[in-house]
Amino acid sequence: MPQAALPWWNGRTLHVQHDSLRIGSACVESLAREHGTPLYVYHGAQVTDRVNAMHAALAQHGLPSRIYYALKANRFAPLVALLRSQGDVGIDACSPREIAYALDAGFSPAEISVTASCLSTRDLSYVSQSGCHLNLDTTSAIERYAALQPAERRIGLRVDTGIETGYGVNQKTSYARGKLGMMPEDFDAALLGASAHGLTVDTVHTHLGWGLRASDDALIARAFALVAELAERVPALTTINVGGGLGGRLVADDAPLGLERWAQLVADAFGHLKVTIACEPGTFLVAEAGALVVEVASVWQKRGVQWAGIDANFGTNLYAAHYGLPHEIIAARSPLGDAAHEYSIAGNVNESGDVFARDRALPALDAGDLLVLYPAGAYGSSMSSDHCLRGNFTEVLA
Ligand SMILES: Cc1ncc(COP(=O)(O)O)c(C=O)c1O
Repeated sequence: MPQAALPWWNGRTLHVQHDSLRIGSACVESLAREHGTPLYVYHGAQVTDRVNAMHAALAQHGLPSRIYYALKANRFAPLVALLRSQGDVGIDACSPREIAYALDAGFSPAEISVTASCLSTRDLSYVSQSGCHLNLDTTSAIERYAALQPAERRIGLRVDTGIETGYGVNQKTSYARGKLGMMPEDFDAALLGASAHGLTVDTVHTHLGWGLRASDDALIARAFALVAELAERVPALTTINVGGGLGGRLVADDAPLGLERWAQLVADAFGHLKVTIACEPGTFLVAEAGALVVEVASVWQKRGVQWAGIDANFGTNLYAAHYGLPHEIIAARSPLGDAAHEYSIAGNVNESGDVFARDRALPALDAGDLLVLYPAGAYGSSMSSDHCLRGNFTEVLA
């Protein structure tokens, strides 16, 4: 088949071979038969490829770097063990239990960076005893943390540049101007406050957004320049942490910011500071390495809408219902088949908002058919719930 005829999702993880839909080297139908559905399948080789590509992109600019995998994206133990086996990947943890999870998985405190929201004194006490490095974004947390006489007295300050990037079209996906990070105007006071309380600021942190787009280029450059300007005021600066944000395609006409361009933007903004560049990729490392295999439970027509109900729901994967982000939906029986029908894809809990897609062009579907939702490796299983006791699913590393 000529390359041009293949859909965008046909790649390293999900691909069509001899008319059969595969994840890695395994056929979707056999995976579903062996493990049942709903089934999250993760292609380990794609994850390690992404780690290597990220290291290479930063190294190309001569930037000393550190990758902290954002555990919140996917904490499936075999996947975390795979990342651990890479040796040069740490963990970005956002809660005491994530720290504990990372320690149990074999990461040392020095390999764990903590950036969290709404830290209680109990949370801070746990971090303080763990010896992990912590990025903070409020005066209250700085003061309470310092009072605990933490083992690790160096901290980072997290900045909200106020510049909206990525999927940031609504309050569920935007990272600018919300609850996270301090305003640039408050940075100097936080720096002074930390020092007055005996803490050394060594890191400036920012997480610009989720799913950075190619069209965000100028905004990212502006946001990074603002962070660099703040960083220049930090006497003991060792690290700029640029958070996560690199994404991938969700549907055919997406244009995500490329890895090479991202590394260039990082180098342009921070290269002159001669410090370590830390980053916290979640989506970039695991999203496109994962697919969710589901079964069509029933098919019906109502008020002119053709529905296909599946054996999963917004408790299995929240992308559509919570964030309003689309998945590609592929019929396993006929992955390249004529998409001559339109289906709305419903989840199986008793909530009217439990809908994965509306009027999506697909081949004819029947109960028992398998569908693949893609990409599904990030913020899928890790955000699952058991609403209506319908939250069962299996995960495998393929
Ligand atoms: C502080 C921080 N770092 C890293 C990440 C991971 O982001 P992404 O999945 O976009 O790489 C997030 C996501 O919420 C975050 O809040």
